[in-house]
Amino acid sequence: MEKKALNWSELGFSYRKTDFRFSAIHSDGKWSDGELVESEIIPVHEGAPALHYAQQCFEGLKAQTAPDGRVLLFRPDLNSERMKQAAGRLLMPEVPRELFLRGVEEAVRANYAWIPPHGSGASLYIRPMLIGVGENLGLRPARQFEFRVFVSPVGPYYSSNGMAVISLAVSELDRAAPHGTGNYKVGANYAGGLLATREAQAQGANEALFLDAAERRYIDEAGSANIVIAMTGNRFVTPRSDAVLPSVTRRSLMVLAEDRLQLKTETRPIDLRAELQDFEEVAACGTAAVLSPVGRIWFDNAWHSFHDEGRSVGPVMQELYDLLVGIQRGELDDPYGWTHEVSL
Ligand code: PLP
Ligand code: COI
Repeated sequence: MEKKALNWSELGFSYRKTDFRFSAIHSDGKWSDGELVESEIIPVHEGAPALHYAQQCFEGLKAQTAPDGRVLLFRPDLNSERMKQAAGRLLMPEVPRELFLRGVEEAVRANYAWIPPHGSGASLYIRPMLIGVGENLGLRPARQFEFRVFVSPVGPYYSSNGMAVISLAVSELDRAAPHGTGNYKVGANYAGGLLATREAQAQGANEALFLDAAERRYIDEAGSANIVIAMTGNRFVTPRSDAVLPSVTRRSLMVLAEDRLQLKTETRPIDLRAELQDFEEVAACGTAAVLSPVGRIWFDNAWHSFHDEGRSVGPVMQELYDLLVGIQRGELDDPYGWTHEVSL
């Protein structure tokens, strides 16, 4: 099948309408089989709990084309598992693993013409979502739910050319409360973060960095990505926090750092001010962000920079980026069984 005539290597991270999306409905306690639909518009009741009370969650993953033309997903089981967790937290029905994977695969396969070719640097972003729909007024769970999966070809999240060095600004706002929903991928976490991102950008940063809400001392995460830090003494450290999203990318990087770079990995609270002098390289990581080196962070009225005064990516993050992306694109061996081929 022919690919679309897009300028693949110039794509940014924005919505582009593709031909099909997958939709399944949950009502009266059961899921419909689900089907591919053409319209990108969801007709939704004005009382829908997704609209008023943010009873919704979503996922994000990517499909990439391997050198031999295979189409690969990266650890989709973890996205399925994470969506189940979010559904449980918000009193929504779980999307069974089989339905989740079938929805993702059907949406990818049906939009084959939109999957960026190997070597373009672009990928197909996949956005599964689960929303509470139907008539409602009081604060109670919806009686009907839609599971929908749409896809869009995308390029880099932060810049127009590959692995850009970004900057973060510590926010005065909190993203998530200690026993709230910060560790679930629910839309409610993101609406509250929009102002933080705007303020960070006004400060000249790409994105907000949130500290723990209780003490404003330990690093939580960025608005759309987890944080990993290469520290003195061959350490590779990521925050332990109940309020951050369990990032698939970060969990994979921790394995690569330990197995392939022989770094000492630690998942523990990171006291920003007290440990700053030990930071050698910092990065933000996620499906959209991939691995984005963080050159500098704004807090306490000053910029604090890392490797090469924040001008370039350091050796640890470069090596991890090459390993991660190499596996995701099917260019390197995948001894972990992380890639999942979509049958075409
Ligand atoms: N943290 C937040 C707040 C996110 O939105 C994302 C994006 O999904 C991540 C972290 C990274 O998670 P993952 O690597 O699973 O995409
Ligand atoms: C992702 O990385 O998949 C996300 O969901 C982040 C989003 C804010 C674009």
